[in-house]
Amino acid sequence: MRFLVLHGGASLREELKPKVEKFAELAFEKETALDAVVESVRLMEDDPDFNAGTGSNIRIDGSIQMDAAVMIPNELGAVINIERVKNPVLVARDVMLKSPHLILSGDGAVQFARKMGYPDYDPRTKYREDKRKIIIEKLKSGQIPEYYHPEFFKEFLGDTVGAVAYIDGKFAAAVSTGGTALTLRGRVGDSPIPGAGIYCGEKGAAVATGIGEEIIKRMASLRAHNMIGDYSLHDICSRIVKDFGEIPFGIIMVSREEACGLSNLKMPYAVISE
Ligand code: GLY
Repeated sequence: MRFLVLHGGASLREELKPKVEKFAELAFEKETALDAVVESVRLMEDDPDFNAGTGSNIRIDGSIQMDAAVMIPNELGAVINIERVKNPVLVARDVMLKSPHLILSGDGAVQFARKMGYPDYDPRTKYREDKRKIIIEKLKSGQIPEYYHPEFFKEFLGDTVGAVAYIDGKFAAAVSTGGTALTLRGRVGDSPIPGAGIYCGEKGAAVATGIGEEIIKRMASLRAHNMIGDYSLHDICSRIVKDFGEIPFGIIMVSREEACGLSNLKMPYAVISE
């Protein structure tokens, strides 16, 4: 079996599903699981409709800091709070393949990216600028809904992109995000934290999306991976999603036999198998 699953973020943005499906078909042409997940995420980073790469959320202070990670069994590459690069997921892959480290953050991640040949790039879009202004105005006038409320996600978040694959007997996972809206500079979400927003092991791969703080507390991806073999993937996804109650959350998974995606919102996702 060959599986590729993509998601475009736990949100209410169902209209993004056709794009996610198109990107899944393009990325499925790649020969390895790692190339397929990296290409999936790169395509979504380059589309300003998604909160990753170009079109990332803007922090309260006006800066854009992005997180990304790639993982295969026993290997990880991640960048935390990287700035002014076009494709954080490509830098994360280079951390895994071309550095002795697993995770680089902040200025060090940017310096590494430049050394690897990634030029200065501003991922800012007018859409996100306008959103940030609206959020700040609503905050000032006390109109902002509760942070975890689905309506808040619908209007402002559109969280994270990710992909998991099983191709030619190999698993891989990749994830990228501009972080949730309205965060402080320096805040780190779940996406680059192994076991939280991403996990890839011998039994399969899982990538999560939603409120990073809640996902880290629950170590959602590692827990999901460790249940493979005990339950069907659908049951595992249901159990993990249920654990989040009404807190916006989504997860995609692959094992050797199955692939699945589930969210308590309307996460746009695509599953391809062969
Ligand atoms: N799930 C992405 C984040 O919280 O940053």
